[in-house]
Amino acid sequence: MSDYLGYKDKVCVVTGAASGMGRALTEMLVDLGASVFAIDRVAAGVPGVTREIIADLGAKASIDAAFAELPERIDVFFGVAGVAGVHNSFLETMTVNYVSNKYVTDAYLVDRVAEGGSIAFVTSAGGLRWEFPDIRAELTPFTDPDADWDALVQRVADFDASYGGDLPGFRGYILSKRALNLLVAERVQTFAEKRVRINAILPAMTATGMIGDFAEQRGGMDNLKAGSTGPAGRLAEPADMARTLVFLGSDLAGFVSGSFFDVDFGMNALELAGIAPMRTKWTMHESLSAQPA
Ligand SMILES: NC(=O)c1ccc[n+]([C@@H]2O[C@H](COP(=O)([O-])OP(=O)(O)OC[C@H]3O[C@@H](n4cnc5c(N)ncnc54)[C@H](O)[C@@H]3O)[C@@H](O)[C@H]2O)c1
Repeated sequence: MSDYLGYKDKVCVVTGAASGMGRALTEMLVDLGASVFAIDRVAAGVPGVTREIIADLGAKASIDAAFAELPERIDVFFGVAGVAGVHNSFLETMTVNYVSNKYVTDAYLVDRVAEGGSIAFVTSAGGLRWEFPDIRAELTPFTDPDADWDALVQRVADFDASYGGDLPGFRGYILSKRALNLLVAERVQTFAEKRVRINAILPAMTATGMIGDFAEQRGGMDNLKAGSTGPAGRLAEPADMARTLVFLGSDLAGFVSGSFFDVDFGMNALELAGIAPMRTKWTMHESLSAQPA
């Protein structure tokens, strides 16, 4: 029997490994024989991982300390961790969901992911339409390769200040996921030079640790389900996302880079076909100018 996935003894790093999608992914990778380094701000406790690393992805020093504990050579990196932005400030949401991933990509993954390796980020269906020119123009200050951690945090704070200085976290959620999608697209060439692939998945609403926050934001679980189940007729499960991530990091996806996987059972397809209304086609500026934050 052939090992088409090819995870045996590969060094895999998963952020957000303690809960939801990251946990489901970590369990699968262990099962597939990978050497898994599980990063989270809380103990993951997934049996069989090579090492568990507690780190706060909202703090540069903590990320640096985590990478000091990781092997020099990484085969597959999965950036899964994130916050919902419902009980987080705009700056915190942008920092954990985006600034950390950009910093890790530019400061570490460029050198540490081995030839033939793979990077996959979990963004969100909330980050759709990042490629629309007017939306993309709002994102480019955040993907600037020359912007280091401090510069990026300053740009986020300046963006917040330009809209009054008290933007809620959920605004940061959309911006962070859009920016991460653009980052993936912009870094394709950089990583291709080392035959490293970089991709993103855009999950639909998924029953994970953050579903309670999203339900709160949408006026309760019934409302959330009514607006988010789509053609599948159910919310996604963490394993639905983990399986797609396993594919993207595997040998099966060896010619897949710069892809944006809608893991939504067709919800975005309906929007693209004009069958369902397109939800997120507005720029941040249009949205923030039209209604109070
Ligand atoms: N659940 C959904 O409906 C949904 C939809 C689209 C995208 N996403 C994205 O999926 C990803 C995974 O989230 P999930 O849904 O599995 O939620 P989850 O809350 O179950 O898991 C998120 C994990 O990230 C970790 N984390 C959060 N902040 C951290 C920090 N500062 N440092 C280190 N670890 C931190 C948490 O401890 C947790 O283990 C996130 O990026 C999220 O934005 C989720």
